Amino acid sequence: MISFEGVARSYGEVRAVSGLDLEIHERELCVLVGPSGAGKSTVLRMINRLVEPSEGRILIDGKDLRSVKAETLRRGIGYVIQGVGLFPHLTVSDNVAVVPQLLGWERSRIASRVAEMLELVGLGGPSYARRYPSELSGGEAQRVGVARALASDPPVLLMDEPFSAVDPLNRQRLQNEFLAIQRRLRKTVVFVTHDVDEAIRLADRIAVMKSGSLVQYDVPEILLERPRDAFVSGFLGSDRALKRLSRRVIADWMRPARSAGIGGDLASILCAKDGGYWWITDAKGVLLGSLAPELAACGDDPERILAAQNVAEMAIGADASLKDALSAMLGSGARTIPVLDREGRLLGEIGLGDIERASGSGRVAG
Ligand SMILES: Nc1ncnc2c1ncn2[C@@H]1O[C@H](COP(=O)(O)OP(=O)(O)OP(=O)(O)O)[C@@H](O)[C@H]1O
Ligand SMILES: [Mg+2]
Repeated sequence: MISFEGVARSYGEVRAVSGLDLEIHERELCVLVGPSGAGKSTVLRMINRLVEPSEGRILIDGKDLRSVKAETLRRGIGYVIQGVGLFPHLTVSDNVAVVPQLLGWERSRIASRVAEMLELVGLGGPSYARRYPSELSGGEAQRVGVARALASDPPVLLMDEPFSAVDPLNRQRLQNEFLAIQRRLRKTVVFVTHDVDEAIRLADRIAVMKSGSLVQYDVPEILLERPRDAFVSGFLGSDRALKRLSRRVIADWMRPARSAGIGGDLASILCAKDGGYWWITDAKGVLLGSLAPELAACGDDPERILAAQNVAEMAIGADASLKDALSAMLGSGARTIPVLDREGRLLGEIGLGDIERASGSGRVAG
């Protein structure tokens, strides 16, 4: 646990942070949000002693940071710097290897750890390892930054706007990947962003800061339901109900789907009087498309109808959010969409009614 007790930091006249009491729980992902200049980066930099408090104290697991040597402290803390901060003259793999090297790990251990970390952030294979930062896209460079921070397996991770240089689509992909990594590794993460959607998507707990002070500190659901004041509700935006949907995972709300295998009598589906659609899968359960009397005439060739469908466009992954499902429905005009696992196998379906049900309920999946 990281505790701030009455912490302040001034730069001359400027109170960058003041009167901060904050407890960051072990193995939680705590997101600091707030407008530019609110003091977020300063809070982060005090945790690894790049900046010292002017008042108060900071404890990690009950131990005052001032009693730990800064170098020792930093080896136990992964740090992803605002604006990436890779070493330009080092290759990708050498960048990731920096801290393990400082720690004096054996060569072979470093090499396998670097390969493992690059794989983890989706940059596996020799083609990335040998490149220099200037040969990467902004998003790739930020992934390398994440791999580097994780390389020495530190219990604490500080991440200062780590995905800011990435376009919205890749940003969402990175967020999902990072969440999957975090579910496995369960680090204590302090993550800074001024993107509210990113905060809500990732956080176990959100600290809203304004002009150097903490305004509200709560789990996202409570923050969205009961913002403390006009500043917080203004910062969260008017679509708080939609944002709550982004916290709900499809897997928890989907229903079983009616499906048929490709080997069966598909022609009869198109001729059925009682109608309704069927999801069609191959022998492994991978979704191939859907068939329904309303989609074609009795006597049409089912395989031709399936071949013309774009499964990737109609379906959604089970780990996506209900907000994602809603946009997919609005985008495709379908009231019900199939839910797939990562291998493309049909798990169930989710409909507008399920989303209504979820928005009405105060209970949150988790
Ligand atoms: N080294 C410094 N010298 C003087 N003032 C500083 C210094 N570092 C930060 N400040 C001031 O402290 C305040 C908080 O800065 P900080 O970098 O923590 O904000 P932030 O919330 O991270 O903002 P952003 O979202 O723009 O990154 C700002 O007013 C900033 O100008
Ligand atoms: Mg900052």
